[in-house]
Amino acid sequence: MAGGDVDTVVVKCGGSPLLRRESVVGDVADLVQQGKRVVLVHGGAHEADRLMRELGRTPQHVVTPSGASSRRTDAEALDALTMAFAGRVRPALVAQLDRLDVPAVGLMGLDGGLVEARQKPALKVVEEGRTRVVRGDLSGRVTRVRPELLEALCASGFVPVVSPPVRGEENVPLNVDADRLAAALAGALGARALVLLTDAPGVLRDPDDPTTLVQAAAAHEDLLPFARGRMKLKVVAAGEALAGGVGTVAISDGRRVSPVQAALAGDGTLLHAEADPAGSEREVVL
Ligand SMILES: Nc1ncnc2c1ncn2[C@@H]1O[C@H](COP(=O)(O)OP(=O)(O)O)[C@@H](O)[C@H]1O
Ligand SMILES: [Mg+2]
Repeated sequence: MAGGDVDTVVVKCGGSPLLRRESVVGDVADLVQQGKRVVLVHGGAHEADRLMRELGRTPQHVVTPSGASSRRTDAEALDALTMAFAGRVRPALVAQLDRLDVPAVGLMGLDGGLVEARQKPALKVVEEGRTRVVRGDLSGRVTRVRPELLEALCASGFVPVVSPPVRGEENVPLNVDADRLAAALAGALGARALVLLTDAPGVLRDPDDPTTLVQAAAAHEDLLPFARGRMKLKVVAAGEALAGGVGTVAISDGRRVSPVQAALAGDGTLLHAEADPAGSEREVVL
């Protein structure tokens, strides 16, 4: 397994403004201090939409036949999300880490051919009850990760801070879902844990009732019936991480204090590779 004998944690920070980024970053600094390798992944749909509106563009979100929602990534949208991620979201995270004396390096999946994706040939979208096919969307699915660059950075004491876009197989930049990007990186790095921080307590049985947290699931499929809209992709990403060999995936609350520590201590919705949540420890032993 990649990563040798050093424990690796991949943390994905959601785009909601409600997330406590300074606390996420504080936890990352603590893990680094304990000798763990940490890779921070972020998206930033919220910031990308804000920038698009500032530029006089209209963000478009589409719903797929399975009920998942995703972004329509035309050239204007890809341009704006690249600027928002690389120009706003990432510098803020890198600067916050720097303030805690953790040297961080911001990267796009595009850099150094770190992540490659295959463009989605067609996007099926549902509009007013009818299914329509959209071609030429500049989004893709991760097909390959070259973890060497991340491993070299981690080995030299840097925390990589990674986001889309990634390198398309046809050599064009493509957007990918940041949760699935984090899952692919976690698998390629042989990570012990993947922490997906969002603006919900975890996966809820009833998305409108925060007291209905599903604490653990034997398989990600068990969570799919509860997940609506964008949560669906997060659950799919969790399944991909487990399939890729990641030990534990936590989908947990990024709005709370010490969210990474809490997730590693068992807060949120946990999935274990053993597919035996009842018999396994809730705590992630690092
Ligand atoms: N069953 C569910 N449990 C929790 N959240 C859900 C569920 N179904 C849908 N959601 C929605 O998913 C959102 C999280 O996904 P998303 O907006 O993509 O955030 P992120 O930026 O963290 O990826 C929550 O804010 C919530 O509105
Ligand atoms: Mg999301």
